[in-house]
Amino acid sequence: MSDAINNDDNAITPQGDAAASSGSVAVGGNVGGNIIVGDHNTIVNQYSTRESFLHQLPTPPHDFTGREQELTELREAVRSGNVMISALHGQGGVGKTALALKLADELKEKYPDAQFYLNLKGMSDRPTTPIEAMSHVIRSYNPTRKLPDSENELSAIYRSILHNKKVLLLLDNARDRAQVELLIPSSKDCLAIITSRNHFALAGMKSSNVDILSVDDARKLLITICPRLSVGTRHDASLPDEISNLCGYLPLALRAAASLLLITPDIDPETYITQLRDERTRLEKIGAEGVNISVEASLTLSYNQLSDDAKRAFSSLSVFPADFDAQAEEVICEDDGYKQLSELVKRSLVNYSQERMRYWLHDLARILAKRKSGRIDELIIIRRNHAFFYANTYTKLKIFSKSKNSIERFVSLELLLIFGLVPLRFCSRC
Ligand SMILES: Nc1ncnc2c1ncn2[C@@H]1O[C@H](COP(=O)(O)OP(=O)(O)O)[C@@H](O)[C@H]1O
Ligand SMILES: [Mg+2]
Repeated sequence: MSDAINNDDNAITPQGDAAASSGSVAVGGNVGGNIIVGDHNTIVNQYSTRESFLHQLPTPPHDFTGREQELTELREAVRSGNVMISALHGQGGVGKTALALKLADELKEKYPDAQFYLNLKGMSDRPTTPIEAMSHVIRSYNPTRKLPDSENELSAIYRSILHNKKVLLLLDNARDRAQVELLIPSSKDCLAIITSRNHFALAGMKSSNVDILSVDDARKLLITICPRLSVGTRHDASLPDEISNLCGYLPLALRAAASLLLITPDIDPETYITQLRDERTRLEKIGAEGVNISVEASLTLSYNQLSDDAKRAFSSLSVFPADFDAQAEEVICEDDGYKQLSELVKRSLVNYSQERMRYWLHDLARILAKRKSGRIDELIIIRRNHAFFYANTYTKLKIFSKSKNSIERFVSLELLLIFGLVPLRFCSRC
C-alpha cells in the first residue's frame, strides 16, 4: 500500500506524491499515522512524506534542448521579480512547462525553504481555484490545519506562511489573472514562475514569449531521441528537417515522432514522412479542433501504430484528470502488468517520472485520448473501475470504522460520478 493515495481528481501536481497534499477540507483526521487530507480522496502518511511536500519540482526533460536565449532573458528578468512564460499564438506543446522547469531547476538553490509546483489546469473544464492552490501550499506545511472558507482569510494565512521564507512557486498552466493574482507572493525573497497559454498582464511581472524551436534545435532534439535520423538515406540534414517542419517545430510533436521512429526501426523515415504529410492533409480537410494540426498528426500516427489493446488503454487514460500510478492504471484500465501503459510511454503518448513513479498525459494528448474513446458502455466500465478502485483503497485503510460518514459520502458520490450526474469538482466541496 502506498503512502499517498490520490484519485487524481484534485491532484495539483502533475507527477507525484507531492500531490498528496492537495485538496481543501480535512475530513478524516489522523488514522494510524495516515492523514486524510482534502476532500475524501487523498491520504498521506504524515511521517514519511511530509518533508517531500516542500520540494515538489518535477525535473526538467533530461534531453532539454535549446532555449539559450529565452533562459538568458529569464535569468535576467527574475533578478527584478516574478516572471511569466507564455506562448506565442497560445500554442500548447511548445515547451512552456519544460522551460519553466529548467529555469526553476537552475534557481532552486536560491529558494531553499520550499519549491512548490502547482498545476492550475487553466485549459481544463475545471481549473484549480485560488482557494485550492493556497490550501495546497498551506497544507504542505501543516496537513491537518483547519482552513477557513473565506478567500480573504485563507489569503492571510497563505501570506503569513510565506513570510520570511525563501520559496519558489511554479504556477503551471494559469488560465487568467484572476486565477493567479492572490497566489503571487509579495515578498522579494520568493519567486513565482507562471506559465500560461494566454497573455495577461500582472503588475511588476516580466513576460517571456516562447515560440516554436529553431530549425537547428528541432533537428538536434529529433536526433538526440532517435540517433538513426542523423544517418538517413539522404545523408544530409534534410530528413530530420522535413520531419521537424511537418511537426511544426513543436517539441511535443517532435518527441512523439522521434520516439516512434526509435522504437520501430523497421519504419523507414521516408515512409514516416509520407504518412505524416498524408495525415496532415487529412486533418486539414476535416479541420482539427482544440489541438494543433502538427501535434495531432504526429500523435495520431503513433496512436495508429498501437495494438487494439494499447489503443483501448490510451483512450481509457482520459478517465484520470491528473497524474496516476501504475497500480491504478492496471486495475482501472484492465491492463495486466501495465504492459500497454509501458508501450504508451515508449511512444511518448504518456509521460512518466521515474523518480516519482507517476504517469500523466499532456493536455493535448488527453484531448486526443478523449476523442478516441470507444463505446459508451466501455467508458462506463472504466469510470466504474476508477470509482471502485479508489473506494476500495479507501476501505482497505480501515477508514470506514473511523469516519463512517465520510466513506459513505465518498462511495455514493463516486457512484453518481459513474453516471456523470455530478461534476468531479463537486465532490471536493462536500
Ligand atoms: N526544449 C525542450 N527540449 C526537449 N524537450 C522539450 C523541450 N520543450 C518541450 N519539450 C518536450 O515537449 C513536450 C511538451 O512540452 P511542454 O513543456 O509540456 O509544452 P507546453 O507546456 O508548452 O504545453 C514534453 O514532452 C517536453 O518534455
Ligand atoms: Mg505545459
